[in-house]
Amino acid sequence: MTRLLRAIILLVALATAGSLAAMRLLLSPRKALAAAAAAGEHRARAGGGDMKRRLFKIAALLAVLGVAGFLVAASGIIPIKASSGHWAITAWLLHFTMQRSVATHTLGLKAPSLDDPNLVLQGAGHYETGCRPCHGDPDLRHPRIPQQMTPHPPYLAPRVSEWDADELFYIVKHGVKFTGMPAWPAQQRDDEVWAMVAFLRTLPELDAEGYRRLVHGEATPTSSVAPIHDLLPPEKVPRAVTENCGRCHGVDGRGRGAGAFPRLAGQRPAYLYAALQAFAHGKRYSGMMEPIAAGLSLEEMRELALYYGSLKELSPSPTPPATTLAIERGKAIASQGIPSQRVPSCVDCHGPAPTRRNPIYPMLAGQYANYLILQLELFKKGHRGGSPYAHLMHSVAARLHPEQMRDVALYYEALTSTLDHPAQ
Ligand code: HEC
Ligand code: HEC
Ligand code: HEC
Repeated sequence: MTRLLRAIILLVALATAGSLAAMRLLLSPRKALAAAAAAGEHRARAGGGDMKRRLFKIAALLAVLGVAGFLVAASGIIPIKASSGHWAITAWLLHFTMQRSVATHTLGLKAPSLDDPNLVLQGAGHYETGCRPCHGDPDLRHPRIPQQMTPHPPYLAPRVSEWDADELFYIVKHGVKFTGMPAWPAQQRDDEVWAMVAFLRTLPELDAEGYRRLVHGEATPTSSVAPIHDLLPPEKVPRAVTENCGRCHGVDGRGRGAGAFPRLAGQRPAYLYAALQAFAHGKRYSGMMEPIAAGLSLEEMRELALYYGSLKELSPSPTPPATTLAIERGKAIASQGIPSQRVPSCVDCHGPAPTRRNPIYPMLAGQYANYLILQLELFKKGHRGGSPYAHLMHSVAARLHPEQMRDVALYYEALTSTLDHPAQ
């Protein structure tokens, strides 16, 4: 204890003396340097001695104050209880500091276009998982337990207009120290955070019904089994699907919206299982899927992978005629690769032909083009992990130009997947 105290006293004294000297240097550099030189040459002279003594006194005073502060903390009399809230001045100072920090750190940050309804849908899906428990929703604006936090998480609808899109982005991505506001779980990628910002900006216009429709779709959580009654009896649908996965991926596995969430229906179970494990262990980065996968047992992962894998495969989305040429180009890339850019063909690993291949290699047929393009971009930036085979994709994606990614994604989207695996 005494050694700790001595170390602290020394540190405080050194820091104080250092900053005083630095301040002097900053305020009047020439004078300070001259004084230093004079002190060096004429150490014995009274002026230098005076100065030194004064500095020493100030340093000692500050050190005593520092130690006193430490002793007060060590005595345990400072209340840390959240139940009493902050003093108004503390609350104001903390919020003011946060506002200033956010404003300064977002200088030069530019928001992408946030008008795509898929972004709003994706953000809403995650808001329900990751934000509603603290920030409430239009129905229950102030959940009871988080209201007892200091500071407590506000209902966000009235707050959103106080911030620009880039400021919301910064808060959601990095969280806020000393408040309990967490940072985004996957710091590697920004697209998901922008989706959340897109949703937050629509929050002020939502009533309880609008929120529910955005998060759960047209059906209520309990009746969302309806669309696939003709496919599977409801008791065969795992509980996690009706309670959780279904609101984003659909109980029928077709994904909600046009590419907000990937389709899972008819995907190879080994791949789905590997993907869930990769999310759960932080090997594939997604602030949306990592927390969900981490909450599943291996048994549940297996069950969910088998369930979605066994659903009827997807009918392709209707393709606008304007994309026929792009699809033709995409088909050429998929089947022949691009030899001049050393891009291999995709079909040997991804189908659509039902050749024998590693069951962890995913099928791409019928998947949303938006989602495929996003994954290729993430691979290219090195921000898409996955199974132990994921590295195969890094060099493939790195060599594709954006328009080639789009063409090949449109080609796969337009295909009906051929079920090339018995559900295993
Ligand atoms: C564990 C609880 C918790 C979770 C989960 C949480 N937040 Fe927060 N959030 C807080 C707290 C506490 C604050 C700080 C309130 C303050 O400074 O007065 C905050 C502040 C904010 C603010 C700034 C509000 C303002 O005007 O001061 C935004 C925006 C925000 N959160 C968005 C989100 C989003 C989006 C999510 C989900 C991705 C989320 N939060 C998840 C607790 C939480
Ligand atoms: C909040 C919405 C949401 C919920 C709920 C959700 N997911 Fe996801 N899921 C996503 C998003 C978004 C992605 C795409 C992630 C990415 O870009 O890497 C995804 C990706 C996946 C993938 C990878 C698909 C592929 O082709 O690589 C699997 C597998 C998956 N989810 C399974 C599940 C299961 C099983 C559940 C339920 C336990 C579930 N998800 C719940 C949003 C959700
Ligand atoms: C040598 C085999 C191989 C080749 C060739 C290959 N891929 Fe892949 N690809 C993979 C593997 C393995 C994964 C799964 C990575 C993971 O998540 O573990 C993958 C994943 C993907 C994904 C993400 C799918 C999803 O559901 O998230 C896309 C998109 C993709 N590949 C596109 C392509 C395209 C386009 C080509 C051709 C230009 C191509 N791949 C060539 C092996 C390959």
